[in-house]
Amino acid sequence: MVLSSAPGKCILFGEHAVVYGQPAVAVAIDARIQVSLEESDSGWLIDGMSFDKQRHPHLDAMLKRMWTGDGGRPLSVNIESELFGAAGLGSSAAICSAVAAGLLNLRGTPADELPLSGIATTAHLAEAEAQGGRASPIDTSTATLGGAVLVSDKKETLADWQYTRDLRIDGQRRTWEVHKVELPQSISEASLVIGFSGRPGPTAQMVAKVAALLSNEPERMADIERIGNVTRAGTTALSLGNLQAVGIAMNECHRLLQGLGVSDDDLDRMVDAALPSSLGAKLTGAGGGGCMIALTTEPRRTAEEIELVGGRTMVSRLGAPGVRIETSD
Ligand code: PMV
Repeated sequence: MVLSSAPGKCILFGEHAVVYGQPAVAVAIDARIQVSLEESDSGWLIDGMSFDKQRHPHLDAMLKRMWTGDGGRPLSVNIESELFGAAGLGSSAAICSAVAAGLLNLRGTPADELPLSGIATTAHLAEAEAQGGRASPIDTSTATLGGAVLVSDKKETLADWQYTRDLRIDGQRRTWEVHKVELPQSISEASLVIGFSGRPGPTAQMVAKVAALLSNEPERMADIERIGNVTRAGTTALSLGNLQAVGIAMNECHRLLQGLGVSDDDLDRMVDAALPSSLGAKLTGAGGGGCMIALTTEPRRTAEEIELVGGRTMVSRLGAPGVRIETSD
């Protein structure tokens, strides 16, 4: 039996602008997906029930790539999540990454020799397949590498380049450069409070909304470039441990995302409630629902303020460990 886990993520800077080639930074959060894998004499099982591939497309895509094709025996798979579901916190990417690590370990790869860039690649391809061809590698790379991850169309000097990912989308090849942002010890003085609106963030719809805005008003591309510049400034602040400047960059990102029309009343209400006790606050991910985040040195107070306006909260450090084997026998 193998128990593996991988973290969820939230985007600190750069959502939507990353679709147009700008950098985006995500941090791994303390809430994780735990996956247990065990050979089964009763056929394929998931959470004790027969395996319905349509209900578990990510797991199916991973098993096809890494197990069944090589004659692997039926498994009993259990998946437990500490993440809010359908909230844009990267739970499907974390499942793919944790499953990849668990399968490798079942086949004999030691826990301290997991090939991280291989796991991130397979997890990204499986996520793209399960989602019908579209997925940026930010979620799967953050779930796998942990810490803080920067994804951009080009190699950036602000962060440590790790690997290139590519994918065919609608007949075109799309390439991303994946980097790690080193976080100094002083980052642990602040926490992230994540506030969930209770409604899923409709990613495809929000990406289409921004595309329509840019097509009708091409001059708005300047705002996408501004988000890119704020992301670069925020990344420098993050790697220097300058929490005030990280907060300012988050606030500026939120203002620019509001201008693109992807925030909504619930997200704005939670951001406004968090600001008095926070260094910065913004929506995270696609918007139109989903989550906001606040950077704060008073996480309990900030969480209470978000809950008072209807949000569900969780507190995390910035940058949790990536995929790992918890136990195996
Ligand atoms: O829905 P999420 O949290 O995975 O965020 C989507 C981020 C976007 O930039 C809006 C879309 C993308 O593919 O990067």
